[in-house]
Amino acid sequence: MAADNIVHLSADASKPGAKIDRNIFGQFAENLGHGLYEGIWVGPDSSIPNTRGIRNDIVAALRELKVPNVRWPGGCFADQYHWRKGVGPREMRPATVNSAWGDVIDTNAFGTDEFMDFIQQIGSTPYVSINLGSGTPQEAAEWLEYMTAAAPTALAKERAANGHPEPYKVGFLGIGNESWDCGGAMTLDYYVSLMKVYSRFVLNMNPAQRSKDQMLKIAVGPGTPDTEWTEAVMKAWKKHTWAWDINGVSLHWYTVPNGWPPSTTSEKFGQDDYVKALKSTLFMDEFLRKQEAVMDKYDPEKKVTLSVDEWGAWHAPLPGSNPAFLVQQNSIRDAILASLNLNIFARHADRVRMANIAQMINVLQAMILTDKEKLVLTPTYYVFKMYVPFQDAISVHVSFDAGAYTHGSVTLPRVDAIAAKAADGKLLLEITNLDAGNPAIIDAALAGITAKSAGAETLTGAAVDSINTFDSPTSVVPKPTAAEIQNDRLSLTVEPRSVTVVSIEP
Ligand code: AHR
Repeated sequence: MAADNIVHLSADASKPGAKIDRNIFGQFAENLGHGLYEGIWVGPDSSIPNTRGIRNDIVAALRELKVPNVRWPGGCFADQYHWRKGVGPREMRPATVNSAWGDVIDTNAFGTDEFMDFIQQIGSTPYVSINLGSGTPQEAAEWLEYMTAAAPTALAKERAANGHPEPYKVGFLGIGNESWDCGGAMTLDYYVSLMKVYSRFVLNMNPAQRSKDQMLKIAVGPGTPDTEWTEAVMKAWKKHTWAWDINGVSLHWYTVPNGWPPSTTSEKFGQDDYVKALKSTLFMDEFLRKQEAVMDKYDPEKKVTLSVDEWGAWHAPLPGSNPAFLVQQNSIRDAILASLNLNIFARHADRVRMANIAQMINVLQAMILTDKEKLVLTPTYYVFKMYVPFQDAISVHVSFDAGAYTHGSVTLPRVDAIAAKAADGKLLLEITNLDAGNPAIIDAALAGITAKSAGAETLTGAAVDSINTFDSPTSVVPKPTAAEIQNDRLSLTVEPRSVTVVSIEP
């Protein structure tokens, strides 16, 4: 193999950085297409094995990911959701129209208690987005009271009558969604005023969550690299009083390689589309830097989180699917794109302490695709699985010469890498090989650890557009790969277009 295929890398475990908050591995489950209905909820009478209406196969697959939080019910849907329609006996719930996504009939069968049941079954934390667009502070306050009140209030009694005497814990509260657009096309001043009002009155009443850091309030942030929105929200936060506060500002940014409307195909594509998507996704780093510069001005102590609560690849809808359902395939290209974004978040871990990939099941860059009783785990699912050890691990300084990989007019870094120290003392190293055609030999000098042995897993596909299908579900799955330790040096070869996680035992 040519010597220029060698990547010299060094990781120093004695130089710890910020904690890689497990919440950057969060997910987003909007009431959209077959994300909730069919994806999660099949109802208790379904022939698909379920627990209280929630698919057992989905729960088992998601438990493996240790999903830290799930954002629900939207997205754009959140600003038209009225929670009361989704509680109580299901046969009594009104049918409504999901006008955010395709005008389909919503039975409201998957409401608050079903969502909380799902959260409990997968072992996660709820991130509830409240309705600022078409709701009121009173409606949102009552929703929180329904979910969290422990005292015998009327709403707590109603929840108990619906089968849940114990108050739920709500970990995160989204104060609106894209309020500059689908959330009500609000002016900044108007949004900032509403943000304060909702922050003041929408209270978590769970006795175990009374301190203000127990439920993190996430304000709407930008969806374009402009910093105007972040500036206004942070300026307001700087002057917050006892009466209101926020803990995070959100940011939405999708990888749409050809711009809007999304036109890249998610299956059957070549290297041109592959490099274009990866180039486009790397812009996330610059986007974060711009917002962070503004946040640092008002909050140098980095108290306020930058929450990337919608990110991922947005391709053209699959031919034959309902275009409002945002159905797309998921390839090794999307897996690499996911690892590049997760690595960017890890490098920004001091400010980015939360992120939610869009979306969990059957929508956009999904973890899982379903078709009636069938289910397939996507390459992106496997990236999230491989990254589980990075949840709450401490970043470790890593340096390497990324080199260059050029295809046509596009030049990308050839490799990307992050390192971290897990709570059990293991040194973790992730290496992404972006090069579609060439392997890379990794020669890593390890400091700050006496390395004994290493195990590695790699994810790749036969071609840049390799996917898993219902008929062929294991084309892109992680496989063990050889990694050698000698005199505190790690060596391994990473395959072209691959994501590799190495776990080094001290
Ligand atoms: O994830 C799909 C949509 O993208 C969300 O509903 C909205 O917030 C964003 O524009």
